[in-house]
Amino acid sequence: MLVELLLFLAILALARIYFGEKTPDFPPGPSAKAVLNSLLFLAYGRPIQEIAFHASKLDGPLVGLQLGPLKVVFVNGYETVKEVLAREDCSFRPDNIILKMRSFNKKLGIIFADGNIWRTHRRFAIRHLRDFGFGKSSTERMIRDEAEALVESMKKRAGCPEGSALHDLLPISVINVLWAMMSGQRHDHEDAQFKQLLENITAYTRQGDPLRMILPWLRFIPVINRPIKEAMKSAEILQDYIKGVAEQHEATYEEGVTRDFIDVYISAMRKGEDPSFDMEQLIVVCMDLFLGGTDTTSNALSFALLYLAVFPRVQDKLRAEMERISPGGEPPLTDVPNCHYYQAFVQELLRHVSMVPILPPHTVINDITLRSGHHIPKDTMFIVNLYSVSMDKSHWLDPENFRPERFLDENGVYERDPCSIPFGQGPRQCLGEPLSKDTMFIILTSLLHRFKFSVPATGPLPTLEPKQGLVLSPKEYKLYVEEI
Ligand code: HEM
Repeated sequence: MLVELLLFLAILALARIYFGEKTPDFPPGPSAKAVLNSLLFLAYGRPIQEIAFHASKLDGPLVGLQLGPLKVVFVNGYETVKEVLAREDCSFRPDNIILKMRSFNKKLGIIFADGNIWRTHRRFAIRHLRDFGFGKSSTERMIRDEAEALVESMKKRAGCPEGSALHDLLPISVINVLWAMMSGQRHDHEDAQFKQLLENITAYTRQGDPLRMILPWLRFIPVINRPIKEAMKSAEILQDYIKGVAEQHEATYEEGVTRDFIDVYISAMRKGEDPSFDMEQLIVVCMDLFLGGTDTTSNALSFALLYLAVFPRVQDKLRAEMERISPGGEPPLTDVPNCHYYQAFVQELLRHVSMVPILPPHTVINDITLRSGHHIPKDTMFIVNLYSVSMDKSHWLDPENFRPERFLDENGVYERDPCSIPFGQGPRQCLGEPLSKDTMFIILTSLLHRFKFSVPATGPLPTLEPKQGLVLSPKEYKLYVEEI
């Protein structure tokens, strides 16, 4: 925490040193009151998204920092976030060494790439993952098989009066579906080596920190650079694993036979029509899908189980709805539109948790003027705060309360809310949203059908306060699992 505090002060001090070089109409920096508030929040260990959100309440939705040539704008509140995310010219990524360190020091992959390489590979991934199952009935079967394996593992943890840890069971179920489409491989739920690899991914996503991205030279300063070093070590382990799988595919590749996504990619690479298709890019695309697709959905499921136990009334309502829609069985994916309470539950869960509170940084490729009249010069880094959208009191009235009913109309019908954007919006919107939603539905309904989750009668009460990172995760908890 002391390190974060010093880092924050260093950034503010630098902003002051460069005060004289302000661009006209650039969003103003934090006022003295906001700085004081932020220091207090930091001293209490509050994360950056909360600090930026509270600063925006005092200073407005756009808070700017100018550190010489580097310009950073914190974007808060739905209207402003929506405006920035919708713009094609704001969908670029900063040319930041911290972001490139995991990808051969180049702007590769999908998440942190931009321009043509990003557009082509994003389209390629969406199209070919669809061919290998995204949104198809074959995926439903695959997810159901994973859910069955998960049920079997969970049975072994049921009935323990002091509660059982469940978090480690979820990532394998989630990644197995995506990884089967990508590489044709599936891992056993008890595979210790693969579990270790997934723990590495969690270590990577936990180290996300915009402060260190703003000042990349901090990577040379001992202690402060520890999270960056740890993240890079985790990225290397994942990179080596994927490299091995990709090389194995290359060695066994047969022209005209496409076993999975990696084979289609190798085929495109060999045709040589687009020089951006190469081995390094394949590895980083796979890393991005792996990283984007593992912790997000599995942490959402882990939070879901925790919330079900902490809010038993919600759990009963979900089970009652399932029983009504699909008596004695588990509803198929085609029934999702009829499961109004379920949809409201998931939407409220993702809002209340704010799974990805701060988006990976966006940047703008030309000078622009936002609707607020603020002038944003080319290459300004946007730190987009989705937490500020989820917690906007003027829209949600009681954002701190967990209340799925806020997404239901007076007839109990699920209603979409434009302010609910857990998967982002615009050109960078999450490409895994359909897979994530299908996985969550099948796994949650399977578990609700077989088990009841509650807070153990003895031991500490689990907290809803998350662990921080690029993707939030629940703090370790134990639940009492009862077979139905
Ligand atoms: C609960 C589950 C998930 C949540 C909350 C989530 C959230 C997000 C958000 C907010 C973004 C937008 C980033 C931005 O604007 O910069 C994003 C992008 C992305 N997500 Fe997800 N995601 C989830 C699941 C998945 C899954 C299952 C996959 C893999 C198939 C995936 C792959 C990606 C990729 C590759 C991007 C980058 C898109 C781009 O830059 O064009 N995500 N995700």
